[in-house]
Parts: sequence; C-alpha cells; structure tokens
Amino acid sequence: MTSEPSVTRVGINAIGRRHQERSRDGDTGILIEGTSVRTANVTSERKRILTGIRPTGPLHLGHYAGALENWVKLQSEYDCYFLIADYQVSEYAHDLARVRNAVWEVTLDWLAAGLDPDSGSFVVESLVPEHAELTTWLAWVLPVGMLERNPTLKAEMEALEYPTDGKTKEKAVPVAFYIYPVMQVANILLPRANLVPVGADQLPHIELARETARRFNRAFKPIFPEPEALVGRVPRLVGTDGNAKMSKSRGNTIDLKDSAETVAKKVRTMYGGPPRRATEPGKVEENPIFAYLEAFDRDTARVRDLKEHYERKGVSNKELRNRLTSVLNELLEPMRQRRAKYEGNMPLVREALEHGTGRGRAIAKETMAMVRDALNLNYLR
Ligand code: TRP
Repeated sequence: MTSEPSVTRVGINAIGRRHQERSRDGDTGILIEGTSVRTANVTSERKRILTGIRPTGPLHLGHYAGALENWVKLQSEYDCYFLIADYQVSEYAHDLARVRNAVWEVTLDWLAAGLDPDSGSFVVESLVPEHAELTTWLAWVLPVGMLERNPTLKAEMEALEYPTDGKTKEKAVPVAFYIYPVMQVANILLPRANLVPVGADQLPHIELARETARRFNRAFKPIFPEPEALVGRVPRLVGTDGNAKMSKSRGNTIDLKDSAETVAKKVRTMYGGPPRRATEPGKVEENPIFAYLEAFDRDTARVRDLKEHYERKGVSNKELRNRLTSVLNELLEPMRQRRAKYEGNMPLVREALEHGTGRGRAIAKETMAMVRDALNLNYLR
C-alpha cells in the first residue's frame, strides 16, 4: 500500500496542513516546503534521535513501558526518526502478509500512543534503500568477531535454531538475520543520530554503533556522532504467564489495542504467583501482578501499601487484579480512542508514513553523499 513518496506532488501532512513537495534537482533531495523550513530553523539545531521497531505484530505493554512512553516524551525536544525496520524481519520471510499488516499495526499503535507524525518522522526502512547501501559500507569496518560476541544476537540466533517451547520449529538462521545488528547500526548512523532510546536488550547493538562510528571516522572522515543509548523506565516487563519477558511469540502479552474486556480477562487469568490463600502473606517479587502495578500504577504510595500488606498478612489476588485492570484500562483508554480516530481515517495514517519516509530519505541522501565523499569512490566524477 505504501509507495515511495513522489517528488512532485502536493501532500497533506498528518495534522492536515498542506505542504508543497518539490524536487530539488529531479533526483536527489525531497524538499518539503513548510516542513523543510522548520527543519532548517528548528529541528536541525535539535539533537537527533533514531529508534526503531521491527514490524512483526501489534505492540504491547512491554513496548510501551520500555520504549514508546519514552519516545512520546522525547519527541518535542529532539528531531526524532521512528523507524519501521522491515528489512530486519528475515525470520518472517514465509509470512510477508504478517509483515505488511504489522507495518500498519505499528503505525496505528504509534499514533495511538501519542507519537506526533508532524513533529517526528515515521520512516519505513525499505523505502529508504540507503539503509542497505550504508550497511554494506559499514560491514567493511566491522570485524566478524564483534557479531560473534554480541550477546543479544547470540541469544536470538539460538532461539531460532533451538526453540525451547516444544511447538516452534527449528529454523536455519538467514544471513540477513546474522547481519541485522550491522543494519541496525546503519539505521542509527544514517540520520547521524545522537541518541537512541531502546530497551536494555538492545544495548550491545548501540555499543556496536559507537564502535562502528569511531572506526569509520578514524579510517575515512569524521562524519558520524557517537550515538548514546537511552534506556526506558522499565527495561523488561514480565509476561502474563510469569515468563521473564512479554513477547508476541510466547502469547503472553497485553496489547495496546486490546479492548477493556480483553484486558480484564487477561489480568483475571494471568499468573499471580505460587498458590496462596488470600490471607496468607506472599512474596512480592514472585507475583508478576506487582511488577505491572509498579510499572503502571501512578499512585505509588498505594502500591507501596499494597506490597507491605501483601508481605505481612496477605492481600487477595482478586483485589490486586481489580486494581491492575482499572490502572491498565485508564492508561489504554485514551490510546484506544486515538486509534479508533485514525482507523477511521487511514489516508491520514498513510500520509504519516509517506511524509516521515520522505524526510528520512532526504537526510539519508545527505549522509550518503558525505559517505561517498569520505570513501572517495566517485569514480566517474
Ligand atoms: N532491533 C530492534 C528491536 O528488535 C529494532 C530496531 C531496528 C532498532 N533498528 C533499530 C532499534 C535502530 C533502535 C535503533 O527492538
């Protein structure tokens, strides 16, 4: 459904203002009037953020507490690029319908969570093929050993090759999967980002980006800032089954788009710690309901009281579940409303992607010109 933004059209941005898009020289540089003025006057003085997500399905509370919530806060202060990393889903090559659908799911979730496509740029990775190009050059300066030692990559490859849940089939690791951290580095360096807000599991990739920037700058020309990671408030949220991580593949998520009834049901049936009578004291850290209350209940004094009671004389899980249900539905209700608004106006959603991708492409071309200049491989010029 999306297509690369054409260079000579009139577009309407996501809040409805009209911007004239004009080609600068027919081939390079998409100039978006209005937006480009703002880019020149305001955003270019702001530090730049790049962060991304892989389009594999709807987003859940783990994404929100670990990342999205942070992005929403940062968007007014920084020049933000939010990337839908659709080059990096090689393990879903057999199910591209899912990827296609997830691109829209993610965009809707972002809008629902409060990301403003007029302030930050929503970028579809594969519509900015400079990502692939930069990946290739960066692969020159990155030793294989640094991928071999990357703990996140190692764990993910092992999960593909030797799944432990008994139902997932073993898979061979595609080369694209092995090099996805290099592409992630390219994602970060392409807009010459200063900051990368991510979940804790992504830290090895940010370290890789810093190392790559240093190496490239030293070997060729100092183009790239050394990006810094920014970890969200809740680095890892447990799943509703008590598993260490909320994840789609485990089916233990509460999704941002879940209805109030679905949330109530998931909370009612979620794992609530080892069996215990209501009047029996329990250990807070053994009950994931508390992990969620800690993550999402704004009434921290009340959570503290509940914990104390729980440890001293016991609190029924029913009471905890009721509290959690209302806390979560209070958080999610405004998102549901925004989502419904956008779902009823998909052209606006499409435009968010189209405009953001246009801006992402413009800066990508700028950086690639710098990279080619640094490598001095413009043979025919
Ligand atoms: N690998 C990240 C994840 O699985 C998603 C991602 C792709 C990303 N490109 C990025 C995150 C660039 C930060 C920066 O969550």
